[in-house]
Amino acid sequence: MADTPWDRVHRDGRELFTPNRGPPGDRVYGESLRTFHGVEYRNWDPFRSKLAALFVKGGALEIWTGAGRTLYLGGAHGTTVSHLADLVEPAPVFAIEKSPTSFAPLLALAGRRSNILPILADAQLPERYRADVGEVDLIYQDVAQRNQAAIFVENARTMLRPGGRGLLMLKVRSVTQRRPAHAVVREARAELTAGGLEVRSEVALAPFARDHVALVAAFT
Ligand SMILES: C[S@@+](CC[C@H](N)C(=O)[O-])C[C@H]1O[C@@H](n2cnc3c(N)ncnc32)[C@H](O)[C@@H]1O
Repeated sequence: MADTPWDRVHRDGRELFTPNRGPPGDRVYGESLRTFHGVEYRNWDPFRSKLAALFVKGGALEIWTGAGRTLYLGGAHGTTVSHLADLVEPAPVFAIEKSPTSFAPLLALAGRRSNILPILADAQLPERYRADVGEVDLIYQDVAQRNQAAIFVENARTMLRPGGRGLLMLKVRSVTQRRPAHAVVREARAELTAGGLEVRSEVALAPFARDHVALVAAFT
């Protein structure tokens, strides 16, 4: 098991791993486990997690420092949330999810990991959870909504600390089916910049997540 340029992310050959901060032997989505020098690691599948895809593609070096309070928008069943929680532990990951169906497994996952704090809410209404979350070091967003950039800016404006960082997994087809992807990305970048964020890089996530581009941003 070797280190990577990303703090706390490990690799064995081409495969990525995070140290398991859940109960020993706990699998979140059927991932394989491996023990190395007495530490249990969870395999991190870039086809299941856009953050793993971003790292496999060499992205986010400008902003990734590992630990920090994290606001995660679009937690779903907790696949990526669980790996991020491995990486930032003991710092908390506040996971916002609006679908009650997806929230149930997320809640169950949080019962096994003390630094995952799930909140059933709409990420378009940050005023509903801002007081519970407070200031964060990192915002990660994967909501597949038409107004993704606006949601990101509004959450950053109210909760991202000065100098904080952001990762927007932009689903190009959620914005529009008809306009070219590059135009959609250009507009999202402009919206982030207008919101006071500096876009440090842009990484297409194909072949792991088609129609997705990761925008790596930081508060100036
Ligand atoms: C692509 S899935 C996220 C997958 C997850 N990020 C992962 O990697 O494990 C998108 C999720 O965003 C949620 N979502 C969509 N719009 C939302 C909103 N406005 N507020 C909160 N969650 C939202 C959906 O219910 C869905 O669970």
